[in-house]
Amino acid sequence: MRISVIGCGYLGAVHAACMADLGHQVVGIDIDAAKISALSDGHAPFYEPDMPEMLAKGLDSGRLKFTTDVSAAADCQVHFLAVGTPQRKNENAADLHFVDSAVDSLIPHLRPGSVVVGKSTVPVGTAARLTERIHADSPETVLIWNPEFLREGYAVADTLAPDRLVYGLQAGTEDSALVLDELYSAALGTGTPRIITDFATAELVKVAANAFLATKISFINAMAEVCEVAGADVVQLADAIGHDSRIGRRFLNAGLGFGGGCLPKDIRAFMARAGELGADQALTFLREVDSINMRRRSRTIDLAREVCGGSLLGKRIAVLGLAFKPNSDDVRDSPALSVAAQLQLQGASVVATDPKAVANSAKRFPELVFADSLEEAVKGADLIMLLTEWQEYVDVAPHELAALVSSPVIVDGRNCLDPDKWRAAGWTYRALGRP
Ligand code: UDX
Repeated sequence: MRISVIGCGYLGAVHAACMADLGHQVVGIDIDAAKISALSDGHAPFYEPDMPEMLAKGLDSGRLKFTTDVSAAADCQVHFLAVGTPQRKNENAADLHFVDSAVDSLIPHLRPGSVVVGKSTVPVGTAARLTERIHADSPETVLIWNPEFLREGYAVADTLAPDRLVYGLQAGTEDSALVLDELYSAALGTGTPRIITDFATAELVKVAANAFLATKISFINAMAEVCEVAGADVVQLADAIGHDSRIGRRFLNAGLGFGGGCLPKDIRAFMARAGELGADQALTFLREVDSINMRRRSRTIDLAREVCGGSLLGKRIAVLGLAFKPNSDDVRDSPALSVAAQLQLQGASVVATDPKAVANSAKRFPELVFADSLEEAVKGADLIMLLTEWQEYVDVAPHELAALVSSPVIVDGRNCLDPDKWRAAGWTYRALGRP
């Protein structure tokens, strides 16, 4: 099938490469010429495991192309909308101008039989509004809302083998589901559940899933706050409640909390949209979810100050990890980067490192000092702050690290180290929600 993918960020570039891998003829379209040029040369403009190989395969086969020229979509039958929906400046609501302009630029290239497939995360009601816009010029085009649930760091695997497929359709367009069935035949062939529903439900599935995940993380972080004052251990608590299969252990890792390009802005946009629809009370709990999450950042800074003897001034602090989570170079709303910057602003002398996210962090906070390696970052440090649980940091040998620092003190912001092992090696070990 001939496919266009409009928007070549984390979502669109991966989707385009994966669709080409499945044998389709794909053109990825973006207004950012630098991004298109990098992708055309086989370089993903972000770090994502398996992406370089997927891109190389697609480009070499001739099935994958990238361009800034939206008229390249004219040859395609299916058009995926994969542009970003960031948070509006100084507001909670989502900024839809990329979605609107993508649709406007696509409309002149639609023809009878075209199928537009929305993948971006949008406020409920957007698909219905876009259908009216599309039908004003191209009444025979069908829109399907097909939310994407991929996680950064696992984007290729999640795109090729999703947990579920959701198709939001308007009454009377049910036949167009066959087009998506054909595109996703590999995943459907392995028994992937497929839910066919209306636009509003499909749009809500995505934000409800993210709201649930954010709530689960903030729940365990709220328990961490209680554990801290009660002298209890939140990691053992999570293990114990996680054995209840109704609860489950995943997404119960207490620590510095959630960040990234999705969870924080999606719960805020969801609250804003519910308010517009008159259901604001239904989601007021998400404000608390957001507050708990933000408090983890200030609590981490307080803990750093405490272990530094009451003042951060002039303390040499090594920050390990800047990305919002491991296996990513994404620092959008990263709790780790936010803490690193705050420590510096409060008078500490911070040297920060990350396996992949130094360049992106330096663009946002050029005043921070960055190191290329863990060894360089920790040399002479009074305190180590482990803020993103990259495997290479989790695996580090405590006695080897002790030889490099000025004093062996570590704050484990992700509860990812074994406290007994670190204490046995002579370290002062502190973590959120643990004695
Ligand atoms: C998320 C959703 O998981 C995905 O389905 C959706 O499509 C996009 O948003 P992503 O942003 O890639 O994906 O990250 P995710 O793996 O969900 O982690 C989000 C944040 O939560 C990270 O900052 C992570 O460190 C934090 N987290 C996760 C915790 O603090 N504790 C946990 O137990 C799990």
